[in-house]
Amino acid sequence: MFFYICSAFMHQAKYTCKNHFISMNISIIVAIASNNAIGKNNDLLWHISKDLQRFKKLTDGHFIVMGKKTYFSLPKRPLPNRTNMVITDVPGEQIDGCLMAWSIEDAIEKMDPEKENFIIGGGSIYRQFLPYANKLYLTRVHKDFDADTFFPGISLDEWELTEKENMTNDEQNDFAYSFETYKRK
Ligand SMILES: NC(=O)c1ccc[n+]([C@@H]2O[C@H](COP(=O)([O-])OP(=O)(O)OC[C@H]3O[C@@H](n4cnc5c(N)ncnc54)[C@H](OP(=O)(O)O)[C@@H]3O)[C@@H](O)[C@H]2O)c1
Repeated sequence: MFFYICSAFMHQAKYTCKNHFISMNISIIVAIASNNAIGKNNDLLWHISKDLQRFKKLTDGHFIVMGKKTYFSLPKRPLPNRTNMVITDVPGEQIDGCLMAWSIEDAIEKMDPEKENFIIGGGSIYRQFLPYANKLYLTRVHKDFDADTFFPGISLDEWELTEKENMTNDEQNDFAYSFETYKRK
């Protein structure tokens, strides 16, 4: 019983912060291959223009939260028109134009309570935030990739598919992909 009460609280990302319960709206946005691969050598595995456009549209004007490796993998940083929050273990580190956080809990305390907050990677950050997320925006790439970074498996006992759009391969890529949205059950 205690476990169910605790996990219900975690899934709504409610935290005791400065003696108040704060409820955060946390979404994960990620592109994953059929074998759950998401990256290699601190880079993405593909370039899908429509996926980048979707990412920009969804995250525009919002907080985006990422690990330090993902931040330094961005071709343009910080990403414009969004609050870039970077998580690091290095005490006192500051990155120009970014809000810093030193743990998952610290990041949650610093999120925007009025809006959707997007977790944008990478592997270690997705893994740690998955229990706190209430929405997933997945781009499923229907092909296996050789990789060194993977997304954790998601269980359909916990997540309900609410939207799906199939995309065929284009001139850029030899694989089909789909945009899928899940909400936590
Ligand atoms: N396919 C996609 O949608 C997608 C999206 C984003 C990224 N990626 C890929 O993912 C890969 C990067 O992922 P990654 O797992 O190697 O790195 P990452 O999660 O981006 O960053 C890891 C770093 O974040 C910091 N960190 C993580 N957890 C922390 C915690 N609890 N407290 C404090 N600091 C913490 C540490 O920084 P310090 O070392 O400074 O302490 C750690 O070294 C790349 O290949 C990238 O291209 C893919």
